[in-house]
Amino acid sequence: MSEIIDGKVISNMIKDECRQKVEKEGLKRCLAVVLVGDDPASAVYVGNKKKACEFVGVRSVSYELPEDTSEEKLLSLIADLNADDEINGILVQLPLPKHINEDRIIRAISPDKDVDGFHPENVGRLSIGQPGYVSCTPAGIIELLKRSGVTIDGKSCVVIGRSNIVGKPMALLMLRENATVTVCHSHTKDLREVCQRADILIVAVGKPKMIDASYIKEGAVVIDVGIHRMENGKLCGDVDYDSAKEKASLITPVPGGVGPMTIAMLMKNVVDGGELGI
Ligand code: GUN
Repeated sequence: MSEIIDGKVISNMIKDECRQKVEKEGLKRCLAVVLVGDDPASAVYVGNKKKACEFVGVRSVSYELPEDTSEEKLLSLIADLNADDEINGILVQLPLPKHINEDRIIRAISPDKDVDGFHPENVGRLSIGQPGYVSCTPAGIIELLKRSGVTIDGKSCVVIGRSNIVGKPMALLMLRENATVTVCHSHTKDLREVCQRADILIVAVGKPKMIDASYIKEGAVVIDVGIHRMENGKLCGDVDYDSAKEKASLITPVPGGVGPMTIAMLMKNVVDGGELGI
């Protein structure tokens, strides 16, 4: 039987710490949130980000642009936000409509306002061990592990998934914490055997309940990044929780595990920004 890593509790702790820091140090922070189009899930995420800003004491300004906004128009807005000294963080909610080149938009955001940590400059800094903004979901997973008393140093860590937002930065962060890291993906041979070697297994594979107990070493720590809506309306992760919990020592549930950490770490990036030396 495993213990639960409660992402709700830990994310609230981090948001509280951010709020206290803003208040104590009288920090003036402002996050610009840009949403293009009317994807309902994105609208919910953006709404939650704005609510978190309010809680922490960070000003937020939002730009809700129509689906047919041109790339030039969006680039021009980003240029204005880059030049605006009152704004210290810029977040462009992804995915963007198909006619807009996401990569070009990410590159246009000034690296020192890139609170998502997606700009190649920040990704590069992470890869060579320099300070910079780090992608919120993987940074949140490090917080979950540390605040749950998990030692990372020297552990065998397997990350399933190699996306730019989660898998790759996750692997780099675990490496920075001195784990021995293996990254698995759709071409990996003998995935089950590779996973069975993990002391810490981080699953960002994008397939509902794919990873069951047979992939897990007795006593491993299991972190589930996936979130899917099942036919019965309930949410599940990439890990088959009921099966995995019999073998894991610690496990994140879905919902209430990794999910709430993304916004908490966004707040931490917005509040700590400027102390990063970038
Ligand atoms: N879409 C899904 N997750 C994210 C995120 O963390 N940041 C942004 N900007 N868009 C997203």
